[in-house]
Formats: sequence, structure tokens, C-alpha cells
Amino acid sequence: MNASDTNIVVGKPLNRVDGYLKVTGEARYAAEFPVAKMTYGVTIQSAIAKGKIAQIDTKAAEQVPGVLAVITHLNAPKADGEKGGGHKVQVLQDNTVLYSGQHIGVVVADTFERAMYAASLVQVRYDEEKPTINMRENLAKAYFPKGKIPREESPDSSHGNVKQGLANAAVRVEQTYTTPVENHNPMEPHATTAVWQGDQLLLYDATQGIFSTQQKVAEVLGIEPEKVRIMSYFVGGGFGCKGSAWSHVPLAAIAARQVNRPVKLVLGRIQMYGPVGFRPETIQQVSLGATREGKLTALRHTGTSQTSTFDEFIEPVGKSARMIYACPNIETSHRLVQLDQGTPTYMRAPGEASGSFALESAMDELAYALNIDPVELRLRNHADVDPSKGLPWSSKSLIQCYKTGAEKFGWQKRNPQPRSMRDGNYLIGWGMATATYPTNRSPASAIAKIMADGTAVVQSGSQDIGTGTYTVMTQVAAEALGLAVEKVRFELGDTKMPKTPVSGGSQTAASVSSAVHLAGNQARSKLLQLALADEKSPLYSSNAEDVIAQNGSFFLKNKSSVSETYQAILARHGMKTIEARADAKLGDEQKKFSMHAFGSQFAEVRVNPDSGEVRVTRWVGSFGVGRILNAKTANSQLIGGIVYGIGMALMEHTIIDPNLGRVVNHDLAEYHVPVNADVPDIEVLFVDEHDPHINPLGVKGIGEIGITGTAAAIANAVYHATGKRVRDLPITLDKLL
Ligand code: MOS
Repeated sequence: MNASDTNIVVGKPLNRVDGYLKVTGEARYAAEFPVAKMTYGVTIQSAIAKGKIAQIDTKAAEQVPGVLAVITHLNAPKADGEKGGGHKVQVLQDNTVLYSGQHIGVVVADTFERAMYAASLVQVRYDEEKPTINMRENLAKAYFPKGKIPREESPDSSHGNVKQGLANAAVRVEQTYTTPVENHNPMEPHATTAVWQGDQLLLYDATQGIFSTQQKVAEVLGIEPEKVRIMSYFVGGGFGCKGSAWSHVPLAAIAARQVNRPVKLVLGRIQMYGPVGFRPETIQQVSLGATREGKLTALRHTGTSQTSTFDEFIEPVGKSARMIYACPNIETSHRLVQLDQGTPTYMRAPGEASGSFALESAMDELAYALNIDPVELRLRNHADVDPSKGLPWSSKSLIQCYKTGAEKFGWQKRNPQPRSMRDGNYLIGWGMATATYPTNRSPASAIAKIMADGTAVVQSGSQDIGTGTYTVMTQVAAEALGLAVEKVRFELGDTKMPKTPVSGGSQTAASVSSAVHLAGNQARSKLLQLALADEKSPLYSSNAEDVIAQNGSFFLKNKSSVSETYQAILARHGMKTIEARADAKLGDEQKKFSMHAFGSQFAEVRVNPDSGEVRVTRWVGSFGVGRILNAKTANSQLIGGIVYGIGMALMEHTIIDPNLGRVVNHDLAEYHVPVNADVPDIEVLFVDEHDPHINPLGVKGIGEIGITGTAAAIANAVYHATGKRVRDLPITLDKLL
């Protein structure tokens, strides 16, 4: 039995099913639940980067009317911030200060204003030690990471003999590239509302992972995960910073237990810089060797990035160098320097975003050194199999991405000579880069219920961090169930629902769609079996293969007058619902195939030769990302990634005071991200790609690939425009004068 072709809604540019709720303010975010007897938590943050709290005077704060508690290490209940996976968190267990901005206390009051005021009255005296803040001054302390990088064996890799490959090369490029600390700036800050009901903890939390947050909070507090319920129905952007529960989440729970009332704890924008992760600073070396004909003979990509003194986070900048180009000799390595700053974390395409800036800039430098067109150079080094693993690709459309992108952009009209293209006084530059991101997937579960009224409810834990999960999963469910999308309600965001992975690594669409598809198919099949076995059904004793499902009815394929509605079948059996639960497990496809999405990025910049101002004026990105679940939300995801990359290339730079370790530009006035006026029309093309191996629907993640290659495409365009190679992000005016 199949859902009929006319039923197909997967892929259509359906408007967001939650759009109405969002624009009318009905969509409730973590800080917007009207809970009775609510109180408000405000954290106190350390003003130094390293040392001890010698004295903390809370008397004045405690006397503010409406203040219910001032919790510090002196009176906090026992908890363990190292437990529970994810990043280690600080939960007021001692007087140690590990980084500037660390939460060292929580004030709870009956209004937010009173809590804020009281927090300002807390006096802290520190025994300060000299912090280590600057990575560049401490490279001698770089160490080999204890941990692994995601889905790879080791922080280092070696394939062939790079030394030999470089020695044999006719042309070499060996350069250093750097990227600064950057911060996530989701519109919605981190926010948690904690409610205890007896020994049960309810948390409304802005998170990318309800189940990982449940586990983390339970273990930090030392209670059973079953006693913790996380609800997260709407999230105003994540980008990685909400991928791990940070200190404020268990602190909200601790505070709520202390005052025996619900506590709402929202981080202010300024508090988003420091205690909730950031993209770490990187220093990267890329060495490329090639023959005169432009065939790579060696590729080495090494990266040093910062981590904290108490935890480890590796920015895997060299990961894509392992698979992106055909090369017999490839080496990558990752080193870390401990700083007295918070622990860095995933930020949109962690590794690939920073790493592709270095590698794809170096490829452009190689193209100039060889006098070969940059697209042509990449075509000559196209990897037909994964060069490090030796595995075939599950699917790959990169050649088409280069071709369609170049054609749409008009790349063949490019004069490669730097400073050769002008528009009046302005210098025009065209640059390109390869984009790639792995296709990740984790086990996920879903439940589908067809109701007596001919509608369906489908549930799967999961999250919608603004990416469109509600919408695309409604489409997947509708198609599997044989129902119109309006008849399907997809629910997510509650740990009482079937388990799913964190919405990180661009894996939600691939993971959750597999479960929703399976559950929907099974529910529909169960219903059909009822009809086929029922003498009173017009479909009695037909073959399941001869039946199609459409708009809530089963039809005989060759005789559509023989049909029955879902409602009629359920009614005759006296059933309120028929339901199926599915667990979508992984097969052994990861052992057989290397699975990645690919794309090409083409950028035009216009540079003012007098001021050094760079404007991105045109963009074409072409992507092979498997099956598109929704043409509109997919387009938006790719545009969003590219916009993020424009910020990375030209603006984003978290400036840290070298003495205090404090973020200087800790708000959106000083931390620049692109606004509408900074962003041209971005044209996104999709190459039609069918991947039968990756997952049941052939879906590749699209949340992160858009940013990859973006900063390099801009840097390469800036070189083309100006003749200046900027190897240190962001490309600000001063670097071009
Ligand atoms: Mo994404 S940075 O993997 O949440």
C-alpha cells in the first residue's frame, strides 16, 4: 500500500504551521508561562576571571522588600556541576572563580525589578589571581586534547605522508589563518522557568535538547531523571549555545526549591556573553602542495583553539580537510590552550565554519599560485570517494553544485586579475568556496494517533529552534498517514513524548523524520488491516498493495469508487483512536558510506577603495542536501546560514579585555551582526538529489551547511577586488587600508 502521488506534501513550500501562533504572540516561550505565585531569579556574576571569593555580603540585598532568598556558595544546597554529560556547570558549591561572568549567586524576589535591585546590592570581595586570557601569548602551553572530536576517532589524523607530498609539490601554499571568539545571539536569550510539584520538577526551558537537559539537571541535582520534566515548545533560536544546559538551568531549580515557589530566570543580553559558551578563537595552519596541473599532493590542516581550565571543548577545524578533496597525503591535528574563560561550545557548524575559512582561503591562494580558475581547481581535486576513510559517498552532487552555482552567478565572465573589475570608483570582487557538512542522524521515536474525527496527532519529543520542525514534521506525518496537512497536528517539546536527540549537528530533520514517517506508516497500516479484515468494509479481502490512502480515505488503486474513510473504519469498530509508536534506529549505513551534504558558495563584494568598506552585493549558493522536506523553510535555513557567514566574515568579533577576561562588546549595539541593509538578495539553488542510504526519506541536514565556505568566499572575493589577502577574521576596514 502506498500513499498516492497526489497526496505528496513533503517538499512543498508550506507556510509555517506555527506561524500564526508566533505572529500573534500565542506561541509561548520558556519565560512566558503564566505560573501561579511566580518569583524572579537574577544571578550575580563574578567580576574577576580567576581567584576566590573572600567575602560576599548579602545583608543589604536580603533586606530589600520582596526578596525571598539570596543564594550563594555559603548557603546553596549540595549539587554536582560536573555530573550529567554536556559541559560542566557551576552551581555555587565553593568560592572558586573560574572565569569572568560565572554565576556566583542568585537573588530571588517577588518581582523582577526587586530581584535586579537586590542583586546590585550584593558586595563581593575577591582574592584575585592573575588570569590567563590571551591564547596567542600562551601557545607554548597548547596540549593534545583528552577528548575526541565528534564522530571521529582522534583529534589527529594522518593519511599517507604529507611531508613527502609537500616535498614533491611543484607549488605550495603554507599560511596561517585566524578566527576570533564569536558569540551566539539568538533573539530569545537563555531562559528557564522552574516549578516544583512535590518532588517533581517541571522546567520550561529554552533548549535545543529537552532530553539532554532532563538528564543534566537530574544528575546535577542528584534526583531521578523521571522526576524532571522539560517542556520547550518554542525556542527563539539556538545556534549551539542552547545545545547544552548551562549553570543557570539547575540554578533556577535550586532557587525554586529554596523559596518553595516557581522561579523564572532569564539571562539578560549581557549575560549571554560569558557563562553560556561561545565560538572559540582559532589559529589555523594550512599547507597545500600541488602539481603544476593543480592536483593536490599534500593537505595539512592544523588548528589550535581555546578551552577552559576546568572543561574541554575542541573546535574541530580540521575535520572537513579529512574528506573534502582527493589527496593522497592528508594530515589534520587539533590542539588546545586552557584559558581562564568560560568553556567554548558549538556554534553553527562548529569546526566547519572556522575551518572552511582557512582551507577554502588557502585553496584560493593555491588557485592564484597555479593560475588556475578556483572552480576548476576544485573540480580537478574532486573526491570521488572519501579520501581518508576510503568509503563511497552515500550521495554527492558537488560537481553539479559548482556548475549550477557558477552558471547562475555568471562566474565565466570573471576576470581573475585582482583589482580588474570596477563599478565606478568601487572595486568589485568575485570569490567562491566549497561548502560541506556531515549528514548526522541519531535514533529517534514518535507516536502517531489517527483519531475518530479523521484528524491525527503525531508526537515526538524534539525541538523546534526556529528551523521549522513543526512544519516539516507535519508534512512528513501527513504524507505517511494519507491525510491532508490541515488534519494533522504535530506536537513536540516535552520529555513525556517519545525520545529524540538534541537539535544540534543538523540532525533533527533526518532523525525525527525517520521516526515520524515510520509511526505514520504503521498507524495507517494498522487502520487498513482493520478494514481489509472486516466483512462490512467495501475493502474487505482486498490486497493491501492495491490500496492507496489519500485525504483520510482508502481507495482501491484501480477502482476508486471502492473506498472507505478512516472515520468510518474507526466508528464501525467503536474505536476512538488507532495508534502506532515507532523507534527509528540506525542501520549499518555509517560503516558502508561516508555521508555528507555539499555545496558551492559564490559571492560578489563591492569595496570602497577609500574607506575599505566591504559590501556583499550578490550571492549564489548551490547545494546538494538530499530530499527537501519544505522548499520554503529549506531555502530560509540556507539563507540564514549564509547571513551568519556574512557576519562571521565582516563583523563578528567578541572582544575580551586582556586583564579582566571580560567581554567588552557584550550587547547587540557593540557586537555587530548583519542587519537587512548588510545582506543582498541571496539566491539558493538545490540540486535534485536522491540518497537511498542515509535514512528512510533521504534527508540531509541543512541548518549548518549554509555558513560553511561563506567567510572564505567573501575573503576570496575581497582579494579579487583589492589584491589584499586577509587571513584574520573579521575583514574590517582597517585590514584593507
Ligand atoms: Mo549546532 S552549533 O550543532 O547546535
